[in-house]
Amino acid sequence: MPFTNWRDTMEIGVGKLDADHKGLLDIMNLLYDAIQDHRGQDVLGPLIDRLVDAYNVHFAHEDKLFQRTRYPLARQHRAEHDLLRDRLGAIRDQHRVKPDASISLSTLAFLRDYLVGHIQGFDTQFAEFVRTAGSTKERPDPR
Ligand SMILES: [Fe+2]
Ligand SMILES: [Fe+2]
Repeated sequence: MPFTNWRDTMEIGVGKLDADHKGLLDIMNLLYDAIQDHRGQDVLGPLIDRLVDAYNVHFAHEDKLFQRTRYPLARQHRAEHDLLRDRLGAIRDQHRVKPDASISLSTLAFLRDYLVGHIQGFDTQFAEFVRTAGSTKERPDPR
């Protein structure tokens, strides 16, 4: 049974970002299975790296859309991403230093809850802006 099922309430209606969010949850589910199966550093390490990388790609996607739509709340939203990026970096570093301690289920639950909370808060707010401010495709990229 997966750790976290995708729910319709997580869908924000911006295709690329919804796909990213699903991908992030998929990696968390793989991590959950790996922890449950008592897998070692050789499995957990790459999965943690994959999660960090996927987050970085996702943040870049959102950032590009902030710029393209001239999103007025971009600064606050980016600050949230930075907080999570720091936290993820700390989790990865901790795992590298003490691989035996592994990543705990409570850490994974924190990451899951943070993702769901962020999607339903900040990302939903941004999606509503995109919807009301018009199509992102109609606006030229300022760069
Ligand atoms: Fe997001
Ligand atoms: Fe976001």
